[in-house]
Amino acid sequence: MNRRSFLGSSLVASVLCVQPRLALSITAPATYDLEAHVGKGRLYGEDGGVSDLWLYNKTLPGPELRVRRGETLRVNFTNRLDTPTSIHWHGIRIDNRMDGVAGLTQEPVQPGESFIYEFTVPDAGTFWYHAHTMSWNQVPRGLAGALIVEEDVPAFPREQDLTLFLSDWRLDDGGRLDTASFGAMHDFSHAGRLGNWLTVNGKSMPDIPLVQGVWHRLRVINGSAARVLDLDPSRFGAQVIALDGQALESVPETSGALQLSPGQRVDLALKPEALGAMPFEMTTGQPFAFARFIVTEGPTSSGPRNRPLVAANALPKPDLSKVRRMPLDMAGGAMGGMRALMEAGKDPRAMMQNGQFWAFNGEPGSMEREPLFRAKQGESIQLDIANDTAFTHAIHLHGHHFQVLSLNGEAQDPQDWRDTVTLHRKDTASVAFQADNPGKWLLHCHMLGHAVSGMTTWFEVG
Ligand code: C2O
Ligand code: CU
Repeated sequence: MNRRSFLGSSLVASVLCVQPRLALSITAPATYDLEAHVGKGRLYGEDGGVSDLWLYNKTLPGPELRVRRGETLRVNFTNRLDTPTSIHWHGIRIDNRMDGVAGLTQEPVQPGESFIYEFTVPDAGTFWYHAHTMSWNQVPRGLAGALIVEEDVPAFPREQDLTLFLSDWRLDDGGRLDTASFGAMHDFSHAGRLGNWLTVNGKSMPDIPLVQGVWHRLRVINGSAARVLDLDPSRFGAQVIALDGQALESVPETSGALQLSPGQRVDLALKPEALGAMPFEMTTGQPFAFARFIVTEGPTSSGPRNRPLVAANALPKPDLSKVRRMPLDMAGGAMGGMRALMEAGKDPRAMMQNGQFWAFNGEPGSMEREPLFRAKQGESIQLDIANDTAFTHAIHLHGHHFQVLSLNGEAQDPQDWRDTVTLHRKDTASVAFQADNPGKWLLHCHMLGHAVSGMTTWFEVG
């Protein structure tokens, strides 16, 4: 087996890149201009076809936005697509009006129109941004990018602070982005829109330069619409230092295999000792390389010799002694999930006629329904999540980070803060957070085809 048979495609991707425009000063907000366009990308080898993509600033992924913790980020956004869109800032504990959820926190930005996103960023870490209007369609066409919030004094020098933005593409037989299958009910009712090709920073098998003997931070973002990626950082000697943008209070000496669901991030610290090439591998039983680290000798002064410490962000902690518990039962989908709903007295046929395959607490969720719950500002909320389906789901909470208290009844490390939690079939998880951020917040599966077909609900704070 090789990389190709792993993902089922022989195609090689490469795209043109354009530098983002950045204006930064001490008092003014960090300001970026972003435009969503249709674009073309030669996603394959030289003899391959040209793909129709939707891009921010004509780059794939969109330009990396960098801002310092506590600063204000201002994004002048213009929609040059011929369809409405909006931008969500995934993982940022944001001002609700800027959360970018069309239909809940803002009207979608119409073709030709602009919207100014402006908000302060309370946490340093690895975040990302992506379309949040028909996201099941817009994200896997290319509308996503990295949002990096630097520490007050950046813990790693800029040259040793690298982003690996992972995207999963579904390519057709001609090697172009398969646009005919967007919205396929089979994807919605099964594992989502799985691709057959993986890119790192928009490229297939890019070389990532590293310096021998100094510490680097690798910010790994899973920007896929549905694919869960397995990663074993110990294979290339890396340690996990942050999850979903939140630095760990204490870094484990060795980090074993981990899974990165759509939307999740992991920051790794890595000091390569050996010169030469080293594969960046995903594992699914067997490892497959999707990028190559090229380790060279740097100038002697080229970076930290001791692993820099990254302080944890000050997150509002839930008060577990007075937490309000809410169930979140996931049901539905193919492979018996619909039958189970029928046995529970539901009418899955009517659901399916509306393109709905999934239920939260017995009913397809949606933004049009009443919220799952309303919380007083500062109230501690615990979600007891149960996956009664045959598929994996990645439950994402907007505007807050949560502690995973337990997974299948097993207590988890309370220092691990997340904005997205993975539940495989039959898994249960309890997560808790302090609902301190006023507004209307989405709670949904980050398998984006699931989100649009029943796995979306919301809650209100304040
Ligand atoms: Cu990254 Cu509502 O999602
Ligand atoms: Cu799901």
